Amino acid sequence: MENERHQISDHSACAAQIDLRRVRTNPDFWYPVAWSRELGREKAIDVRFAGRHIVVVRPKSGVPYALDGLCAHRQVLLAKGEVHGDLLSCIAHGLKYNRDGQCVSPNVSAEAQCLRLRTWACREKDGLIFVFMGDQSLADKTPFPDFPRVRDRRYRTRRFGQMVNCHYSFMHENL
Ligand code: FES
Repeated sequence: MENERHQISDHSACAAQIDLRRVRTNPDFWYPVAWSRELGREKAIDVRFAGRHIVVVRPKSGVPYALDGLCAHRQVLLAKGEVHGDLLSCIAHGLKYNRDGQCVSPNVSAEAQCLRLRTWACREKDGLIFVFMGDQSLADKTPFPDFPRVRDRRYRTRRFGQMVNCHYSFMHENL
């Protein structure tokens, strides 16, 4: 009984130190944010990472890139804009951004030409699009997730997704 009491109080002490539901995501890792099939050529989609809007763009050339999801001019959602060639243009006032996040619109003020969006490392593999939201200098050095079963013809992959409004740890526990 005494032993049991010790265990209970040890557990309580631990729970007081770590609240699992408040554990933050480590941004220095590659996270899947979209299915490849969701993003056709010359299209853009809005995804979120830890509440932050990211626009993932597939230009005509096919290799996706990721930028901050709100326009540097008036914070309009960039995924509502259009993609032509390699450029993403904002639906509100038409500013165009390239894959480096630089505003490249001709015929705009010098001030607008200085606008720049933050860029995020982005890669595509096995039908998924990943972003790296942490220290960008670590992106290339960080091991990339591998899903060999997806490429193995002996297995079938079922793809589905659903937004669930809860802390991610609930999903780790239950799926
Ligand atoms: S809000 Fe995007 S161009 Fe003005």
